[in-house]
This record gives sequence, C-alpha cells and structure tokens, in this order.
Amino acid sequence: MDAGVGGRTSKIAVAITGASGAAYALRLLEILLSRREIETHLVLTPCGADILRIEAGLNADADRFDPRYLGLKGAMRLRCHHHAAMTSPLASGSYRLDAMAIVPCSMACASAVASGASRNLVERAADVVLKERRKLIVVPRETPMSAIHLENLGSLALAGAVVLPACPGFYGRPRKVQDLVDFVVGRILDHMGVPHSIGPKWLGPDSQAPSSESP
Ligand SMILES: Cc1cc2nc3c(=O)[nH]c(=O)nc-3n(C[C@H](O)[C@H](O)[C@H](O)COP(=O)(O)O)c2cc1C
Repeated sequence: MDAGVGGRTSKIAVAITGASGAAYALRLLEILLSRREIETHLVLTPCGADILRIEAGLNADADRFDPRYLGLKGAMRLRCHHHAAMTSPLASGSYRLDAMAIVPCSMACASAVASGASRNLVERAADVVLKERRKLIVVPRETPMSAIHLENLGSLALAGAVVLPACPGFYGRPRKVQDLVDFVVGRILDHMGVPHSIGPKWLGPDSQAPSSESP
C-alpha cells in the first residue's frame, strides 16, 4: 500500500499509549496531517494522555480530548476516537483502515493485543487490523525487556504485526534529538507506505547527513 497513491484517500490510525516516547507520536501526526490525501485517526489512552502532559507539556485529557491541544498544523482534520468507544468505526473490520501504528506502545498494550483482550478501542482496533490482514505497526520503547515482553512482541510479529522498536540508528550522525526522533518516525512511515524525506537512508558510507522535512 502506498498512501494516497492513485488518488485514493488512505485511512491511517495512530494510537498513543502510556509508554515513554510522546515525541515520536507527535512527529508522526505532524507528517500525516501535512498530507491531505491521508485521513488520520487518533486514539489516546488515559496513560497516553499522561505521557503527552509529562513529556510534551500538552494539556491532554483522554476523556475530553481537543486536537488543538496537540499544537499541530491541521490538527482539526484529525479524527479523534474515545478510547472506550467500541461503537467507533475503528472497532469494525468493515471500516477499511490501511494501517495503524501504536506509538509509543506500552508493554501492557502489547500484552493485551497479543492475547486478543480488546478491552479498549486501541486494543480492539489493533485486533481488527490484524484479523483483516492490514498493516499494524507496534512501536515499543521499553528497555530492558522481560521474557514476557519478548514473548508478547513475538506473538504480535507472528500474527503479522511489524514490531518496530523506538531504536534510532546512528549511521546518519544525528546531531539533535529531532534527528533521533525522525529516524524512528521515518521507519514507521516507510512501513505505512507514506512517502517522506525524514531520517537518513543508508546509501553507502559517503551519504550520512541527516535530512529533514518541515511540513
Ligand atoms: C512517565 C511514565 C513512563 C512510562 N513509560 C513506559 C514505557 O516506556 N513502557 C511501558 O510499557 N510502560 C510505561 N509506563 C507505564 C504505562 O503507562 C502503564 O503500564 C499503563 O498501564 C499503560 O496503559 P495503556 O497501555 O492503556 O496506555 C510509563 C508510565 C509513566 C507514568
């Protein structure tokens, strides 16, 4: 799937859970919202809102979420779904999402999706994306990982998810935190099929300068 290719609107969901790494989610949303051909959906767990407050200083509330709090251009185009709203279209396979990223993904969420618990909309939407053979990208931050964490992530990979840990590479010689964030977000966009120009691409030892994109 290449997002928006052929004039078709792509539907992409981003779920923010309570793991460290708000910067990854915010940068991903910034890029997705800059693409008019992409319909971007957001689900925020209560602990995800805590992380947005703690790490990004945003006035986020998962129960009364206002996308303007994200401070992102185009935020009003964001389709926000309450984390408990099982009547949301995202809870049904008949709503054809092209891709979903759980970023950052808590170990609690990874465990619930791996076991099919579907207790909230993030877990149910991920369950649906897997059963419908759409693209699920799971971005854990946890370190170190226990055997339980690894087993759950292994189950997700076996079920078809892309497990994409928030582990930036250093071959692009990052100079700023933003370069590290862009490395991870660039890889998420690659797996979503969204064209972009952020993060380094390894083209050989003479091309290490980090590139940037300001939507
Ligand atoms: C500041 C902070 C950082 C956290 N970082 C992580 C993390 O990196 N990985 C993780 O699995 N849980 C982390 N947690 C714990 C989760 O928030 C907790 O397990 C929560 O139940 C996850 O719920 P959710 O998946 O519904 O968002 C963190 C919590 C706090 C307050």
